Amino acid sequence: MNNFELYNPTNYIFGKGQTEKLSKLVPANAKVLLAYGGGSIFKNGVHEAVTSALKDFEIIEFGGIEPNPRFETLMKAVEIIKQENITFILAVGGGSVIDGVKFISGATHYEGNPIDILKNRVLFTDLSKVIPFGTVLTLPATGSEMNSGAVVTIEATQEKLTLGGSALFPKFSICDPTVITSLPKRQIQNGVIDAFTHVMEQYLTYPHDALLQDRFAESILQTLVEIGPNVVENPSDYKLASNYMWCATMALNGLIQKGVPSDWATHMIGHELTALYEIDHARTLAIIAPSLYRVMFETKKDKLAQYGERVFKITGNSVDEKAEKAIEKTVEFFHTMGMKTKLSENTENYKDTAEFIVNRFTERGWKGLGEKQNITPEKVREIVEMSY
Ligand code: NZQ
Ligand code: ZN
Repeated sequence: MNNFELYNPTNYIFGKGQTEKLSKLVPANAKVLLAYGGGSIFKNGVHEAVTSALKDFEIIEFGGIEPNPRFETLMKAVEIIKQENITFILAVGGGSVIDGVKFISGATHYEGNPIDILKNRVLFTDLSKVIPFGTVLTLPATGSEMNSGAVVTIEATQEKLTLGGSALFPKFSICDPTVITSLPKRQIQNGVIDAFTHVMEQYLTYPHDALLQDRFAESILQTLVEIGPNVVENPSDYKLASNYMWCATMALNGLIQKGVPSDWATHMIGHELTALYEIDHARTLAIIAPSLYRVMFETKKDKLAQYGERVFKITGNSVDEKAEKAIEKTVEFFHTMGMKTKLSENTENYKDTAEFIVNRFTERGWKGLGEKQNITPEKVREIVEMSY
């Protein structure tokens, strides 16, 4: 097993009715910026629950954070925080709102051009230089409620870039599984597939000695396969909703990544598809992952076979056979979850995509992605073209 440090300071508060605890979680006398997205929280009662729990606090609201949050929009919130002397931010929403708040938190006291936070992948490690924040999660998917990473899009250049650092963990996250009842089916499908792929990025590499880590990962995958299709149809079933929410958090709160190699190339390529065509994040992963597993078959086949055997109970006479069946089963699962796994099924103008992404990665110096840094720009081209 590789050496690791496990640090996760987020106070994770899970279950029905937990929003009531907000008044004790937000620091006394805080001046709060309540940040939200396009307004779903006004229709499903979450805004009402949050504001009544915080009735004794001074609150300024900032709405309009887009899915795939925009740098340009977030900078408006930074200005408000400075003008109004805000001391605490509450993100109420899905991954986009939470990621947006992480950016706002870091950008407010950033000494320099805030766009460099994204261009240079700045890591925020000094707690005295960020605005503290908590979250009320409304969409289980990204794990952003219990990690310190974020993804922000620069509208002007159509770039989707990451930031993070140990100072950007939420102080607390309220995770009430009943919030999923108002989610459109499409978003629940997205959430399951995003969480599933997060596990795959940290698991589907090559065999190593971290036995417990493998089994943590496989248990999350198995649970998502078991409940995924049902939770889409029955979001008010609390057993399904609660397991879905906990899986999504566990998939990307740092635990399963400790001591093991990880990949993340599916995400890096997928982010480009969202930046270019606005395809939902999870749907880009379902497009890229199967091709990536095929192109990188030799690197990944041992782990693919183990995954197939343990998660899908696949049998076969050779590693190659089991690994191939495992990819087929994965695509089948993606289809069951409503994903369209070809780029051409998601956008019409896709023909130059591979060329565009390869050029971008080359300009950024991304010469070798993946657990063995062997996903070269030429492999990226093959993967993207296979996804057409
Ligand atoms: O904006 P509102 O009106 O709230 O509507 C949202 C949005 O339209 C809606 N929604 C959320 N909760 C709802 C709801 N509608 C009804 N009822 C509810 N309870 O759902 C739509 C999508 O929301 P969004 O936050 O964009 O989705 P998600 O949570 O999937 O987040 C996706 C973003 O997270 C990033 C992605 O790249 C993308 O930008 N990621 C963040 C990661 C991280 N921080 O660790 C990792 C991920 O891999 C991912 O890259
Ligand atoms: Zn993701």
